[in-house]
Amino acid sequence: MKNPSQFNLKNYLSKNQKAVDAALGSLLPKPAVKPPTIHKAMRYSIFAGGKRLRPILALAAAEACGGAAANAIPLACAVECVHTYSLIHDDLPCMDNDDFRRGKPTSHKVYGEGIAVLAGDALLTIAFEMAAKARPTSRYPTAIIIHELADASGSLQLIAGQVMDLENEGKKISASVLRSIHERKTAALIRSSLRLGAMSANATPTQLAGLSDFGFALGLAFQIVDDILDITQTSEQLGKSAGKDVKAQKATYPALLGLKGAEKEADKWTLKARAALKPFGAKAEALSAIADYLLTRKS
Ligand code: IPE
Ligand code: IPE
Ligand code: MG
Ligand code: MG
Ligand code: MG
Repeated sequence: MKNPSQFNLKNYLSKNQKAVDAALGSLLPKPAVKPPTIHKAMRYSIFAGGKRLRPILALAAAEACGGAAANAIPLACAVECVHTYSLIHDDLPCMDNDDFRRGKPTSHKVYGEGIAVLAGDALLTIAFEMAAKARPTSRYPTAIIIHELADASGSLQLIAGQVMDLENEGKKISASVLRSIHERKTAALIRSSLRLGAMSANATPTQLAGLSDFGFALGLAFQIVDDILDITQTSEQLGKSAGKDVKAQKATYPALLGLKGAEKEADKWTLKARAALKPFGAKAEALSAIADYLLTRKS
């Protein structure tokens, strides 16, 4: 059996990034389709760069459950579209007011606020069309898949987190409120990416529960690291404006616990995430390598 340290994460990520990009390229309307502005704007943000973390997690979850990555691809694309929509709207002047994303000017800087709002709307909508195209399995019919994506993206999860993020700017908040913001704005969609990948592989209830726990813990660690990087990295390294959380008086882990405390918290959640992978054994080597990489990433 292969030693986990021999797992080539770099190759795994680049191979899957390419597969996801190719699928997105064929699932999104071509830029010339009328009205071209919206289709160009959708593609602009999708293809501006980005780690493709969520779709890759969906593919790796399918593999961990013994499924074929090909069956998970439409769902992988769907979660990337929801994620990219959330970034376009997150960057708007009425939200975080950011000028750079994925190393490029934000959507509203290039297309204006009206088209940026609509590009976000259109990406969110097409995500559900993509999810509807995914092949259902015996345990997970299309209605369950659509419900899963709606739940993670909706006003009880991702949107709830964004609302709480805005409403708590400038406030001193408790650890429990901060955690619930991070759970909703970030962990919910990351968890759902894993669940959707698992569903495409007709996961057993035990497999689905294990990957849900992994995704939740990984998602929390991911947002804590995002908060840390906002302080420790430059805008060039991040491809988005650094130092903005302090300026906007955002509720973040470094603000609550200091940098060291936040790092400890990210370690703790990464450990929890890895523990949830135990029952998957070698089938989860990609997921395990991704968890380690996310803790030490620099962008
Ligand atoms: C940024 O997500 C937004 C957060 C939830 C922290 P990513 O860091 O995954 O952004 P991209 O997709 O690589 O641009
Ligand atoms: C983003 O959180 C969460 C969502 C977009 C849902 P942040 O506001 O911290 O993300 P960045 O730092 O702008 O990427
Ligand atoms: Mg934000
Ligand atoms: Mg932001
Ligand atoms: Mg951030």
